[in-house]
This record gives sequence, structure tokens and C-alpha cells, in this order.
Amino acid sequence: MSRGRKLDDPIELARLVPPGELEELVQAIHKALGCWVAIHDPSGRRLAGPASAGAPCRTLEHEGERLGQLAASGPQAELALGLVTDTLGLLVHHAHARELAAATHEEAMRVTFGELTEHNQRLQRAVSRLEELDRLKSNFLATMSHELRTPLTSVIGYAEMMAEGLAGPVSTEQRDYLTTILGKADQLLGLITAVLDVSSLETGHLSLDRSALSLADVVASEVATFQPQAGRRGISIQLDQSGESVVVGDRKKIRQIVSSLLSNAVKFTPDHGRVGVEVRQGPLAPGAEVVAAGAVQLVVRDSGIGISRDQVAKIFEPFFQVDSSSTRAFGGTGLGLTLAKAYVEAHGGRIWVDTTPGQGSTFVATFPMRQDEAP
Ligand SMILES: Nc1ncnc2c1ncn2[C@@H]1O[C@H](COP(=O)(O)OP(=O)(O)O)[C@@H](O)[C@H]1O
Ligand SMILES: [Mg+2]
Repeated sequence: MSRGRKLDDPIELARLVPPGELEELVQAIHKALGCWVAIHDPSGRRLAGPASAGAPCRTLEHEGERLGQLAASGPQAELALGLVTDTLGLLVHHAHARELAAATHEEAMRVTFGELTEHNQRLQRAVSRLEELDRLKSNFLATMSHELRTPLTSVIGYAEMMAEGLAGPVSTEQRDYLTTILGKADQLLGLITAVLDVSSLETGHLSLDRSALSLADVVASEVATFQPQAGRRGISIQLDQSGESVVVGDRKKIRQIVSSLLSNAVKFTPDHGRVGVEVRQGPLAPGAEVVAAGAVQLVVRDSGIGISRDQVAKIFEPFFQVDSSSTRAFGGTGLGLTLAKAYVEAHGGRIWVDTTPGQGSTFVATFPMRQDEAP
């Protein structure tokens, strides 16, 4: 951008060779040969040398273009004209080559700069659009959360009141129906909550309400909750606990992690299968040393259907289910493990699975040990 020349600018003597250099050339010739040479531009304007050199008598050319005219007077005028012509030819050739290189470079910069500017503007527009969409999505979710939960809360409230007989006596059959209504409404509320939890994860709004708690206690209470439904299908849940299990974490979220893993273990295990739950100390991540990264581990084993190698990587993704027909067969949304993973990681832990199709799965979730418990 220095000189602002374009590639197709005409070749001009006055531009390519500074007047000072032309004058020096004329003086040098005068000194050497004793004659005067004058240099004119194509229109006849004198650029260097004295008027006494006379009228122009020779044309200067470069690459087929008229560059200027020369005049000479005195002894050896012919020789002087030849020398000046050759010298100017060389000077113009080099100056023009330099100018072309600069102009080419400048042109390239201009193109690149233009492309960058355009690219930038496109990006800027895309970012604004995304921000707008993100805002719309957040608004939409907040509104939906309210709009879906409010009527559902009423459905649950009125169904509970009826079940309690507040609207008059309830027959056994009516009570059964009400129980079903309440169960399904609860399920729907769980689904809405899970979807909202996942979307708040996506917007990065995950905060933990931390306190010191015994993982073993949380696990024992969740196992007790699942025992009856497992028992009805002939599945026994075995609970083992060894060592200290105090971690610092969010009780509600940890309970949700345990509940997700347990519900999957029971759900994907055929009748009369086995589910084992263990709370123990071990490494924070698979393959890590216990001492280097002490953690409390929650291990949930089942003798269920297992997960094939190519599906394992996907089960922690939102809405993923190995067999989408399982939504109908087993219920669920494919959000349980997504939330469990996010919650475990928010606590500084890890979650992974060891599984063999047809034999069963072992899920391990780890939580960093409380500082004063760490070995
Ligand atoms: N213990 C398990 N045994 C076999 N498959 C499992 C197990 N846990 C999870 N999966 C697979 O991972 C998928 C995702 O699990 P999850 O996120 O809890 O969703 P959901 O339970 O709602 O289907 C399940 O649909 C199932 O295909
Ligand atoms: Mg699940």
C-alpha cells in the first residue's frame, strides 16, 4: 500500500528515476566527454541538463513505450547520447522491476485483506445469529419449564386430593386409576426436569450445593428404594461397602447419579438376574494409581444385556439409547447417563463402564476423596 501503484501504470521516466539521479548523470557525462546532454519527457518538458544542449534529437524507449527524448551539443555528442541511452535503459529497467514487484505484493495483500474482511463480516453475522438463537432457546426453555410444570402440578395435586378422599369416597378401582395417573404424572415431571437439566448443562448453568456426606448412606437409601421393584422381578440387589466414604458434594445430584446407575442396572437385567452395588476406595480414573489419585468409587454391576463395543462410546450422549424401541419396552429418555456424567465430572470425578454383551455391565463413578481422608 506504500506507493499505491497499479500493475498496469504507464512507465514514466520522471517517476522511475529521481530528478537528482538524472542531473548527476548529465553532470558525469559533461565531466567525462565535455559535452552537454539534456533529458526531456515525451511531451518535451526538460527533466535534466541545460537548455543549451539544444532541441531533442533522439527518442528514448523502454519495452516499446516512449520514455522521453534526449538532446546533445558539443564534441562527442553521439557517444554521449549512446551512453545516456544505455544508462537510462538500465536504471529504468531496474526501477520498473522493483515497482512491479511492489505492486504485485500490494495487489496480493489487497486481495487477502478483502477476503479476510468479507470472511470476518460473515462470521460476525453468524455469531450474532447464534447469540440470538441461544437467547431464544433460553427464553423458550424457561417459558416451557413454567408452562409445562404448572398444569402438571395441578394434575398431581387434584389427583392426590381425590385419592385421599377429599372429594368423597373413592372405590378400589378409582383408587387404582388414581395411582396410575399419579405414577404417569410423576414420570412426566421427571422427564421435564431431566430435559431442563440437560439444557441448563448446555448453557453452562450447573452449580453444586456442596456439603460433606457419606456416599455409603446415599447409596444404601437408594438401594432400599429400588429393592421392591427389583424384588418383583426376582432380582436381588447386593450392597457392599468398605472403608470411609465421605465425599464433599451435592447430595441431590449424587443421589441422582446413584439412582440413574441403579435404575439402568435393574432395567437392563433380565428377571432373576443379579445386581451388585459397592462403595469402596480406589483410583479416581481407570488405570490411575490409588495413592496418586485417591477416590471413593461407586461400582454398579449387573448381569444384564451388556453394551456392544461400538455403542459404548455413545451411551453418555443426550437422548442416546442403544435400542430406541427400549423407550417403549423399558421407559427412559436416554438422558440418565448424560446427566450422571455431567454431575460426576462437576464433582471432579470420572465415570466409565466395563461391559460384555450378553454377560453384563459394570459402571464405575468416582469422587475425589475429601482432602483429610486422602492417603
Ligand atoms: N446397565 C446397562 N446395561 C445395558 N445397557 C445400558 C445400561 N445402562 C445404560 N445402558 C444403555 O445406555 C442407554 C442410555 O442410558 P440412559 O442415559 O440411562 O438412558 P435411559 O435409561 O433413559 O434409556 C440405555 O438406553 C441403554 O441402551
Ligand atoms: Mg437410565
